[in-house]
Amino acid sequence: MTTLAVNGMKREVQAPADTPLLYVLRNDLELSGPQFGCGMAQCGACSVLLNGKEVRSCITTLGSAAGKEITTLEGLSARWAQQKGLSGADAAKTLHPVQAAWIEEQTPLCGFCQNGMMIKATELLEHNASPTVSEIKDAFTSGISPHLCRCGSYTAIIQSVQRAAASMAKRSEA
Ligand code: FES
Ligand code: FES
Repeated sequence: MTTLAVNGMKREVQAPADTPLLYVLRNDLELSGPQFGCGMAQCGACSVLLNGKEVRSCITTLGSAAGKEITTLEGLSARWAQQKGLSGADAAKTLHPVQAAWIEEQTPLCGFCQNGMMIKATELLEHNASPTVSEIKDAFTSGISPHLCRCGSYTAIIQSVQRAAASMAKRSEA
C-alpha cells in the first residue's frame, strides 16, 4: 500500500511501486484531468505538479511520488484558495486564475493538451508573476520536452498566461 498526498488529501493506493503515476491518478483515483497522450514524456498532456514542479506523470512512478505533494488539474482551485487564505465557502466557488483565464480566452480547441498547458502555466506563474512573451515561450518549450498542441492553440495559450498573470497581480493588490 502506498500513501499519496493528492490535492490536499491522503489517498491509499494498492499498486506496484513502478506503476506510472498517470495510471494511478486516472484509474485508481478517478482523476481525469491528466491525459494519456504519448506515454513517453514527449507531449505534456499528462502533467501534474509534484511539490510545485511540473512533471510528466506518464514517466513518474508511484513510488517516486510517495511523500510528495501532488496537484492535478482538479486541485488547482484549492491550491489557489489555500495560497490566498480563502475560507472554505469562498474556496468552493473560486477557480484558479489560470483556469478562469483559459475560460475567458476560450483557449481550448479539442482540449486534449490543455491539462498540461494549465499545469505548466501555474508552475510558471508561481515562480514568475509577470513573465514576458519570451519567458512564456521558454517555459512551454524547455524542460524534458515542449508542450505540444496538435490544434495549434499556442497564441491563445500565451494570451491566457498573460491574462492570468494580470488577474493574479490584481488579486495580490486587493
Ligand atoms: S502522456 Fe506524458 S508527456 Fe505525453
Ligand atoms: S487543443 Fe487540441 S491538442 Fe491542444
